[in-house]
Amino acid sequence: MTSPVTRMPVAVIGAGAIGRMHLERLLSHPDVAPAAVADPAPASRDYAASIGVPWFADYRELLERTPLGAVIVATPNHTHAEVGIACIERRLPVLMEKPVTDTVAQGRLLCEAAAAANVPLMVGHQRRHNPILRSARALLADGVVGRPVSVTAMATWLKPDSYFEPAWRRQAGGGPVLINLIHDIDLLRFLIGEVESVQAMTSNAVRGYEVEDTAAVLMRFACGALATLSVSDTTVAPWNWDLAAGEAAHYAQLDVNSHYISGTEGSLTLPRLDVWRYGKERGWHEPLTHSRTPVHRADPYVEQMRHLRAVAEGRETPVCSGPDGLRTLEAALAVQEAARSQRPVSV
Ligand SMILES: NC(=O)c1ccc[n+]([C@@H]2O[C@H](COP(=O)([O-])OP(=O)(O)OC[C@H]3O[C@@H](n4cnc5c(N)ncnc54)[C@H](O)[C@@H]3O)[C@@H](O)[C@H]2O)c1
Repeated sequence: MTSPVTRMPVAVIGAGAIGRMHLERLLSHPDVAPAAVADPAPASRDYAASIGVPWFADYRELLERTPLGAVIVATPNHTHAEVGIACIERRLPVLMEKPVTDTVAQGRLLCEAAAAANVPLMVGHQRRHNPILRSARALLADGVVGRPVSVTAMATWLKPDSYFEPAWRRQAGGGPVLINLIHDIDLLRFLIGEVESVQAMTSNAVRGYEVEDTAAVLMRFACGALATLSVSDTTVAPWNWDLAAGEAAHYAQLDVNSHYISGTEGSLTLPRLDVWRYGKERGWHEPLTHSRTPVHRADPYVEQMRHLRAVAEGRETPVCSGPDGLRTLEAALAVQEAARSQRPVSV
C-alpha cells in the first residue's frame, strides 16, 4: 500500500520512557508526524527542544492549541482515564498505552466515553502488531495444534537496579504483573481467546519491595486450555518475549522460545514458530516432525502507528480496542486478586 502524501499530526502526552520511543518513530514515520509533546517534567521540555517538537507543560493547553489527527497517551497508569477522556471530548482518536487504565471502573468510563462520542480508542498492546504473532495466529487458525490444551509462558529476566529509582516502580501496581505479564496475558488472549479463571502466587523475596518481583500464575481459558505463566524481574534468564522476539532494536534477539502451546494435533512455540506434529502414526513412541515458519523481523511500534492513522481515518478497526484492552486488564487484575486472596478468581 502506498503511504499517504501528508503525514497525520500526532501528539504525545507523557514523554517518559515509552513516550520517547513513540516520538522517535513519529519523527521518521511515513504516515504520521510528531505535532507536539505535553509533559510537565523539565527534562521533557529539553527533550522536545532537542527533537524540534513544540512542548507544553499542560496537555489541555496542547489539545486547545494544536491541530491534531490523533493522540498517543503515555502517562502513568492512574492518569489514563482523565487524559483519554479529555482527548475524546475533543473528538481526537486515542492510542492509549497499556494498561488501558489502572482500574476496571476507570476503564469502563473511558470506553463508554469513546463509544458515546464514536471516537476510536486503541490500546498499546503492540505485540499484536508483530508479524510473529500474526503468523502464530494464522497457524493456530489453520489447526496446526488442533485444540489448544496446555500453554506455558515465561517472562523471566533481570531489571537493573536503576529501574527502581522512581518510587512507583517499588509500590503496588508498579511491578511485573501489571507492567509486563499483562502483555503475555494479552498475547494469549489474542491467540487462544478469553481467560475464564485465574490462580496465582506472588513473591517479593528477592528485592523486598512492596511490589511483587516474581509471580506464578495458572489460567483456565474459555476454550478449555490451561496455562502456566512464570514471571520474575530478578532472574538472569533469556526466556521472555522481549529478548526472544527482539521486540525493539534495544533488545538483543536471542535464539530461544518463551511461549509453548501444546494441543491435540501438534504444538507451537513462540517466537520461533517451531511446530511439532506426528506423521501417520500418533503416540509417544512415534517420531515427531519439526518445522519452523520463517517470519521477517519488523518493529511492531512502527506498524502500530500506521494502524493508528488508518483507524483514525476509519479505514481499519482497532486491532486492540478499548474494551479489548479492558478485558486484558481484568485478567491481569485477577492475577493480583488471586494472589492476595489465595483463591481462584473468575474473570
Ligand atoms: N507498550 C509498552 O511496551 C510499554 C512500555 C513501557 C511503558 N508502557 C506504559 O506507558 C505508560 C508510561 O510508562 P513509562 O515507563 O514511559 O513511564 P515514565 O515514568 O518513564 O514516563 C511517564 C511520563 O509522563 C509524564 N506525566 C505524568 N503525568 C502527566 C500528565 N498529567 N500530563 C503529561 N505528562 C505526564 C511524566 O512526567 C513522565 O515523563 C504507562 O502506562 C506504562 O504502563 C508501555
